Amino acid sequence: LSSGPLKGRRVLVTSGPTHEPIDPVRYIANRSSGAQGTAVARALAALGAHVVFVTGPADVPPPDGVEVVAVQTAQEMEEAVEASLPVDAAVFAAAVADWRVSSASDRKLKKTKDGLPELEFAENPDILHGVSQMKSGRPALVVGFAAETNDVIDNATAKRLRKGCDWIVANDVSPETGIMGGSENAVILIDKNGADAWPRMGKDEVARELAARIAAEITT
Ligand code: C5P
Repeated sequence: LSSGPLKGRRVLVTSGPTHEPIDPVRYIANRSSGAQGTAVARALAALGAHVVFVTGPADVPPPDGVEVVAVQTAQEMEEAVEASLPVDAAVFAAAVADWRVSSASDRKLKKTKDGLPELEFAENPDILHGVSQMKSGRPALVVGFAAETNDVIDNATAKRLRKGCDWIVANDVSPETGIMGGSENAVILIDKNGADAWPRMGKDEVARELAARIAAEITT
């Protein structure tokens, strides 16, 4: 099992959407399937890494051979990420909800004649930003994802600087690309030297290529 270039290395992968409760039976979510994050975790494990896989409620099952930490909310995801540290590399593929309902009701909201419920929102922690900015114990390599619909390179380059991560894996999720929820991806890897556009390929192939580059980066 654990041979390969990442044997003895510990790697974190976040994946999937988060669910932010409104009341005990309702939540706010997004359309992330967890497919790309799951593929990345599988590929890193195949190279021998100990993978801590922190996943929100995804459509696809977690890969074999990883340590699964299942969470629902962004705040739970942040706690699980902090508990996973220190790691040699961290890949943030989760689609974390930017906002949560500030005080979720502990009872199911009822229809009333007095009108519609009003939801108040609070900002969720930016987990990638927090880990990227760590002053001590920061992973040697921090990789974020960026789903963009326009000006992909410019937006993702700005995001890399804003977050403080080392690499951004950017993709164009415009509906006509069929990437969101599909089995293929066309990514642009952004690092401090610029942008590298990969040909369109399966999400599993993207994951294997990314895992190989991560292994090269943290072992040389
Ligand atoms: O800012 P934006 O959500 O576009 O950034 C996307 C990247 O940041 C992804 O790598 C995602 O996993 C990460 N992220 C996070 N915590 C958040 C929001 C995004 O880790 N609250």
